[in-house]
Amino acid sequence: VPAARDRLRIAIQKSGRLSDPARALLASCGLSWRESRDKLFCYGETAPVDLLLVRDDDIPGLLADGVCDYGIVGRNVLEEQAAERAAAGKPQVSKEILPLGFGGCRLDIAVPDAWEWEGPQQLQGKRIATSYPGLLGKWLAGQGVDAGIVTLSGSVEIAPRLGQADLICDLVSSGATLAANQLKPVQTIMRSEAVLAGPVQPFADIRGELAQLLLRRLDGVLRLKD
Ligand code: PRP
Ligand code: ZN
Ligand code: MG
Repeated sequence: VPAARDRLRIAIQKSGRLSDPARALLASCGLSWRESRDKLFCYGETAPVDLLLVRDDDIPGLLADGVCDYGIVGRNVLEEQAAERAAAGKPQVSKEILPLGFGGCRLDIAVPDAWEWEGPQQLQGKRIATSYPGLLGKWLAGQGVDAGIVTLSGSVEIAPRLGQADLICDLVSSGATLAANQLKPVQTIMRSEAVLAGPVQPFADIRGELAQLLLRRLDGVLRLKD
């Protein structure tokens, strides 16, 4: 049983597409922070709500380990961890609480420009590079396609040119990265955006009340945006 805590800790991306909007959203909930010198931990001033600035891919693990209470992360990252836990027979410990309306993107299958796309069956026996082996594996199984998955943590788009894979499955936002690597999107596997991720089980200490306050404020701010 984790020790009782009297402050809420939210993990957000340290640098990248979601960092500024995530921080701005929390600030518009009336939160503010006194930054530490290294800026990895921000101590909440107006409310006992602290920030931890981390790599987005680490956020599901920090939630699972109970190091953080909430996280702002792409649905794709959260669902990938859920798929990997399910495949390993582990129970789900965190879930999507609220979609946040920014950071929209797609997880797409992308093939070399020269390919003529005929549908998922064309992937049979091919090697697909991705940072999302759990989500891709689930989708391939659903399609009844047997393909090889090459797991890479970054620079996935270059794998076909290096001969490491035949095609890729990666996030697409503007499409500029694919175009720059002579690849084209042919099939969407999931639609994603930034979400608030939190625990499946309710808090047994004061964090329960802090969480309610945070969720009420977030809900109010997001309503105004619509
Ligand atoms: C994603 C993805 C591509 C890029 C696509 O990475 O992996 O590299 O964005 O965006 P585009 O369609 O606008 O060119 P991102 O930098 O978001 O995150 P990562 O560092 O976690 O891979
Ligand atoms: Zn990332
Ligand atoms: Mg990337």
